[in-house]
This record gives sequence, structure tokens and C-alpha cells, in this order.
Amino acid sequence: MKTVVAGGSGFIGSHVVDLLLEQGHEVLIYDLEAPRHGQDCAFVRGDTRDVDRLTQVLKGGDIIYMLAAEANVNRFFESPRFSNDITANATLSVLEAARRCSAGRVILASTEWIYGSIPEEGEECITEDTPYTANPDHIYTSSKIASELFCRNYQSLYGVNYTIMRYGIPFGERARPETVTPIFIRRILKGEPITIHGDGSQSRQFIYVKDLARGNVACLSEAAENQVFNLNGKKRITVLQIVRTLEDILGKKAQITFVEDRKGNFKGRFISSEKARRLLGWTPSLEYEEAMRVYVEWFINRIP
Ligand SMILES: NC(=O)c1ccc[n+]([C@@H]2O[C@H](COP(=O)([O-])OP(=O)(O)OC[C@H]3O[C@@H](n4cnc5c(N)ncnc54)[C@H](O)[C@@H]3O)[C@@H](O)[C@H]2O)c1
Repeated sequence: MKTVVAGGSGFIGSHVVDLLLEQGHEVLIYDLEAPRHGQDCAFVRGDTRDVDRLTQVLKGGDIIYMLAAEANVNRFFESPRFSNDITANATLSVLEAARRCSAGRVILASTEWIYGSIPEEGEECITEDTPYTANPDHIYTSSKIASELFCRNYQSLYGVNYTIMRYGIPFGERARPETVTPIFIRRILKGEPITIHGDGSQSRQFIYVKDLARGNVACLSEAAENQVFNLNGKKRITVLQIVRTLEDILGKKAQITFVEDRKGNFKGRFISSEKARRLLGWTPSLEYEEAMRVYVEWFINRIP
């Protein structure tokens, strides 16, 4: 039995592959792009929409992580049809290949976005039982909800097993340069201003990518079969806290420009990962500040 990681050359996928290899699993990366981080494992260049190619790669009992998607929500906005094609439609292809090959399971990367971005009155804590948002405000959200529903359909109609992982906002080594943390690090280092909308109290639960990779690998457990898990950071971090944490680590003050708040700016709701702790024994190993320190050191060492 091998573990196939579709999207294994990407940001999160590459960390999942590293950990699987470290733990002695047989791994095959299935991706349009070759691995960039020196992973020593099988690689097949292929498209997740290509059911025939996937069917050649998968064997009975194999487990496939579906981490290939359009992860950049701005590109989803610019090219909705293409982005949905490589996200929801591609998930359908992976499920179909898994059905044809009697694969062991499809483990899908989803997102906390499926709960919606507008805080519900009086709602304190989100769990996996919290329903999907009735009004997705982004095509990315709709495409991820569709991907999740396809998994459930393939289980009930064809007996293909799944695990759904709903990620928080990942940060850490190999993150895309255009995401918030690398942008803030670069601006502070260069003495360039950081623009904050409103008072900086809007918050997210950031999850360190290596802890997220541990959560992915924990999902191999039989206890995760046909289950949904939030894999998220332990606490909410405000935008201002990100800046203050980086100032502390870098030993340099940020130039902050406060501008008018965006309409409906998400203040954040707490998303519980208690189920992953209970069933899989997973919990983030590092506090936000500790993980950020490790990441910043890595980041600085790579500045030419
Ligand atoms: N990064 C985030 O902020 C975030 C947050 C929540 C959920 N997610 C989800 O996690 C997963 C991984 O995200 P990431 O940040 O590592 O993305 P990424 O863009 O770094 O990696 C995606 C990988 O998928 C590959 N890929 C894209 N289309 C493909 C196709 N048609 N066939 C084969 N390979 C293809 C790309 O070459 C890339 O290596 C995605 O499903 C994403 O939606 C990401």
C-alpha cells in the first residue's frame, strides 16, 4: 500500500510528503510540477482531472491525499471556471479513480472558509457539526463545499472512503510570498509601511504548516475514516498581534498605517480542533509565537 499525494509539490503538500517519508511510508507525488524541495520519492507528472492517468497510478488499497487545487483565492476570483475545474471537478476525478481502483481512501484538503466569513450572532465556537454557510461569499468557498459533498456522495453511493480536513490559515516555511506573514516580515525588515484596515482587531486562527502536516499524517488513522476534522491553531491572532510578534522577533518597529475598516471585515470566530485531539491525538505542537520564531529564522536565512 502506498500513499499518493496529489499536490505534493506545493506548499502544504511538500511538508506532508516530508513527514510521510520521515515516518517510512511509501510515497508517490502526483503533481503538474516536479518536487522542489529535494524529496526522495516516486513522482508522476499528471493532472488531477485526468481520471485515466490517476487510475494507472493508484492501486487497490492505496490512500490518496487530494491537496492539489487553486489555493489562491484571488486567482479563483479572476478565473472561476478554471479554478473550480482544478479544485471541485478535479476532486470528482480523484474520487472516480479511487472508485475504479478500490483505493483505500481519499483524504481531502478543505478549508475553514466553508463555515462562512460573517460572524453569526451569539455563535461562540465552531465544530465540525456546524453547518456549511448558507451564503458562501466566494467561489473558492462554494468549490470547497462541492468538493466535500462529492466525497460524501462517493462514500454513500460507491463506498469510497474519505477523510475531510478543514485547514485554518497556514503559515511557515515555503509559504507563498504574497501571503500576509511573508509580506509583513519583508516590510518590517525594509522599513516599509504596513497598512491595517480598521483597528487591527480582526483575527484568524493561524496554523504552523509543520503542525498542519502532522495533522494530515494523523488522518491516516482508521479512526479518521469517513470523518471530518478541523485542523486549526489553538488561538485567534489579531492582525496587530502578528505585527507585534514580528517586531519582537525581528527587534525592529513596524511602520503601521491605519486606514478605514473594510465593509464586513471578518473579526473571526473560534474554530475548535477538539475532535482531532480526541480521535487522532493531534494538537499543534508549537505556540504561535514559537512557530513564528522558527519560520522567521528560516526566512531570514534565505534572503540573498
Ligand atoms: N494555503 C492556504 O492558505 C490554504 C488554506 C486552507 C486550505 N488550503 C488547501 O490546501 C491545499 C494545498 O494548498 P497549498 O497552499 O499547498 O497550495 P499550492 O498552490 O502551494 O500547491 C498546490 C499544488 O497542486 C498542484 N496542482 C495544481 N493543479 C493541479 C492539477 N490540475 N493537477 C495536478 N497538480 C496540480 C500545483 O502544481 C501545486 O504543486 C489546497 O487544496 C488548498 O485549497 C490552503
